[in-house]
Amino acid sequence: MRPMLVDRFGRPVDGLRISVTNACNFACIYCHMEGAQPTGREEQMSPEEIGRIAKVASELGITKIKLTGGEPTVRPDIADVVASISAVEGIKDLSMTTNGSMLADLAYELADAGLMRVNVSLDTLDPGKFKFITGRDCLADVLDGIEAALDAGLRPLKLNMVLLKGLNDREVWRLVDFARSRKAVLQVIELVRAPGVPEGVFERYHAPLKDLEAQLVLRAIRVVRRELQDRPKFFLPNGAEVELVGPVHNTAFCAKCRRLRLTANGKLKLCLMRPETLDLIGPLRSGASDEELKAIFRKAVAMREPFYKPAKDPNRP
Ligand code: 5AD
Ligand code: SF4
Repeated sequence: MRPMLVDRFGRPVDGLRISVTNACNFACIYCHMEGAQPTGREEQMSPEEIGRIAKVASELGITKIKLTGGEPTVRPDIADVVASISAVEGIKDLSMTTNGSMLADLAYELADAGLMRVNVSLDTLDPGKFKFITGRDCLADVLDGIEAALDAGLRPLKLNMVLLKGLNDREVWRLVDFARSRKAVLQVIELVRAPGVPEGVFERYHAPLKDLEAQLVLRAIRVVRRELQDRPKFFLPNGAEVELVGPVHNTAFCAKCRRLRLTANGKLKLCLMRPETLDLIGPLRSGASDEELKAIFRKAVAMREPFYKPAKDPNRP
C-alpha cells in the first residue's frame, strides 16, 4: 500500500491538477486564468520535469492527475507530457480539461500516449453564441474534436458547460440531449468570481444552479452525491447524466477537496481560490532529491486550510 497524504483536517489528498501552460487559443469571457501571462519558455516545465513530479507525487499516494491550462493542447509537446506521466506507476486516472478545438488532430496521439479521458468545455451549440463566449468561431472544430475523442476511446467523456444568464441558460436541455447522444456526462458549472475573472462579468452573467437543480430533482430517477466534492449527479429517464458543480466557496465543497494544484510555472498551489504557493520547480531544477521534493508536497498539504473563507464573499456582490 502506498502512503496517503492527509491534511490536518483529515482530508486525504490523492489528486493533482497540473497546469501545463497558461497560453490558450480561446478568450472566454469568464476565463479565470488570473490574467495569466503566457508562461515564458524558460519557466514552462518540460515533459521530463512533469514526469519526475508525477513520480514523486505517486509515491506519496497521488493516484489522479488532471492536466489543465490555459489550454493544454496548445503545447506542441503535449503528447510527451502525457507519456511522461503515464509511464509513472500508480497513476490510476490521467485526464485532461480542454477546449476541444485541437482534439480532432490530437485525440489518437494523446490516447496512445496514455491519456485516459477528457473533459471538453462546451457552453453552447449555437455557433454565434459560441463565438461570443469564446472569442473564436470554431464550434465545428470542437464538435469534431468530441467525436475524435470518443473514437479514440477517451471515455467517459465529460462536457463542461458554464451556466451564463441570458446566454446559455435556456439551452441546458439541448445540451443534456446532446451529451446523452454522445454518451457523455454533462457537468453544469456555476460561474465563479475567481481572481482574474474580468470586472463586471460575474454580475452580468452569474446564474445560480438552484432552479436547474429543482428541475433535475423532479425529472431524475436517481440522484447520487459523489465522494469527490459536493457534486450531485442526476440520472434522467432517457439515460442522460448531469452533474452540478456548485460554487467553490461553499464549505461542503471544501470539506471534500482532495487535490493540490501545480501552476504552469511549477508552484504548488494549496487552493484554487487562494494565492499561497510553494515553489517546487526551483528546488527540482537546483538538484533536490526525491525526498526533498516530497517534503515540499507534505508541507503544502500541512498548510491546507479547512475551507475557503474570503474576506468578502466573492460570489455575492
Ligand atoms: N467560472 C466557472 N468555471 C470556469 N471555468 C473557467 N473559468 C470559469 C469561471 N469563472 C471552467 C470552464 C472551462 C474550464 C477550463 O474551467 O468550464 O471549461
Ligand atoms: Fe480560459 Fe479555458 Fe476559455 Fe482558454 S478555453 S480562455 S483557458 S476558460
